[in-house]
Amino acid sequence: MKRVYNFNAGPAALPKQVLQRAQEELLDFQDAGMSVMELSHRSKEYEKVHQKAATLLKELLHIPVDYDILFMQGGASLQFSAIPLNFLSKGKTANYSLSGSWSEKALKEAEKIGSTHVASTAKNTDYTTIPSQLELSEEAAYLHLTSNNTIFGTQWREFPSLPSYIPLIADMSSDILSRAINVKDFSLIYAGAQKNLGPSGVTVVIIKKELLKNCPDNIPTMLNYQTHAKNKSLYNTPPTFSIYMLSLVLEWVSEQGGVEAIEKINLEKANLLYDTIDQSGGFYIGHAEKVARSHMNVTFNLSSEELTSVFLNQAKEEGFVGLAGHRMVGGCRASIYNAVPLESCQALAEFMKRFQTNYR
Ligand SMILES: Cc1ncc(COP(=O)(O)O)c(C=O)c1O
Repeated sequence: MKRVYNFNAGPAALPKQVLQRAQEELLDFQDAGMSVMELSHRSKEYEKVHQKAATLLKELLHIPVDYDILFMQGGASLQFSAIPLNFLSKGKTANYSLSGSWSEKALKEAEKIGSTHVASTAKNTDYTTIPSQLELSEEAAYLHLTSNNTIFGTQWREFPSLPSYIPLIADMSSDILSRAINVKDFSLIYAGAQKNLGPSGVTVVIIKKELLKNCPDNIPTMLNYQTHAKNKSLYNTPPTFSIYMLSLVLEWVSEQGGVEAIEKINLEKANLLYDTIDQSGGFYIGHAEKVARSHMNVTFNLSSEELTSVFLNQAKEEGFVGLAGHRMVGGCRASIYNAVPLESCQALAEFMKRFQTNYR
């Protein structure tokens, strides 16, 4: 069986052990005589899976008791609408920090719902940095930011500290569980699963219970956070297989020593690739400014489009998949989420050095 070096940006690599476990259990899930996909979402067996995913996430991220964990659908993109629908009331203004295209998309949805304000932006630097100099509006409903910018390869290192009455909301789709965070600093965290948490299909929402009081009754039931909180994310049929896979990925993270241990490996992986870029004498050019570099998405260019194309073709021949940059930025991008092993990054660094020797 051939397994490639998978650097896809999402859906992305999953731990091999998780895939093997899912394969073993596929036809007969824990003596149920059927696959986990065939279980009723109201069955005792499925309930355990659902509960296990929530419990493990709570443990791994040290989520305090005054937070709820929700499993929703519609991807991170549906959260762009759900957040202003629930929390942008009349007379209030939704504040956004712009650090890349995902935060721009989040803002665009909020603009359809009410008053918005750009509190900070890094657009003027072509999103090579993280925004600074926050200027909040009057009557701020919340501040929304994107913790890791999948496309541009930048990442917030320190989050803004706000007055306690302004909720901080973060899209952590591409770096949740990759580093230790203080959940208490946020009122709401959301993440599409398909990068660090599992396959696509489920979106994890971690929400401060206090915020649920503000959800209005006159919005669509499925977009109301209260619906999902009151029904333990079982109001309708949840994406049961994705939640099962999430529970296996979370178990795997625990076995690796938890988020703190994973963070160390992630740093080692990122340093390996950034050192290769920095020591190439300009052959490889990193997109992000050093202080803003993402530990999840390493973005870089070569001197011309032709050379980039030769690089990507040769990389593919040698089993490196998913290295083309996003169509908006071009160049190359190595997405090195939790499940991408250190060995894959070592192999890529070696390949980059070899390629440089041959094409300098
Ligand atoms: C930071 C970020 N936010 C949001 C999204 C959109 O996620 P989804 O496709 O689950 O809607 C992505 C997808 O890559 C992302 O990287």
